[in-house]
Amino acid sequence: MNVLIVYGTTEGQTRKIAAWTATHIGERGHQVELRDSAALESVLKLGAFDAFIVAASVHHEHHQDTITNFVFAHHELLNSKPSALISVSLSAVLEDEKTEAQKYVDRFVSVVGWQPRMTLLLGGALRFTEYDYFQEQVVKFIVMKRSGAASPERDHEFTDWNALADFVDRFLETAG
Ligand SMILES: Cc1cc2nc3c(=O)[nH]c(=O)nc-3n(C[C@H](O)[C@H](O)[C@H](O)COP(=O)(O)O)c2cc1C
Repeated sequence: MNVLIVYGTTEGQTRKIAAWTATHIGERGHQVELRDSAALESVLKLGAFDAFIVAASVHHEHHQDTITNFVFAHHELLNSKPSALISVSLSAVLEDEKTEAQKYVDRFVSVVGWQPRMTLLLGGALRFTEYDYFQEQVVKFIVMKRSGAASPERDHEFTDWNALADFVDRFLETAG
């Protein structure tokens, strides 16, 4: 199978997740290509792929515009082939916030007209050492406060790599 992974990232965690996914799929004996939605070449022949994985992270309750534009432009092709969405956020791992993480996905897919066959809500990371003042305030006082969780105030990775591996294996099984 020939799989295309397109990702959107702002601080880099989703790039790491997408790259890990590409390696995992390659190890399972499939061909795989990885593309950043912010640097997609127009010559990319989407029709040559058998399956698609879109990975994007959430900021201010929305996925990246570059991902929204890519999926909206190609939703008919995506709907006609096996496709999966990996939505990376903090809400995905915060107590009582799972419905919030699902809401981001529901809004996204309804706007772009895409029905991914499978969706994974996956925890991202906090990178306080890389945030500017504004980003730090948003994470501490909006994202974390909403769930009542204490902000760790240090870098922390919440991504569940085993859950990601299970999801990708199930996707390859159903797509194949
Ligand atoms: C400024 C800012 C705003 C964020 N807004 C949200 C949000 O609305 N909901 C949420 O669940 N997570 C939010 N997050 C957490 C990110 O989704 C998380 O850090 C993710 O790992 C970022 O992935 P990336 O590094 O691929 O961009 C926000 C993070 C930052 C820095």
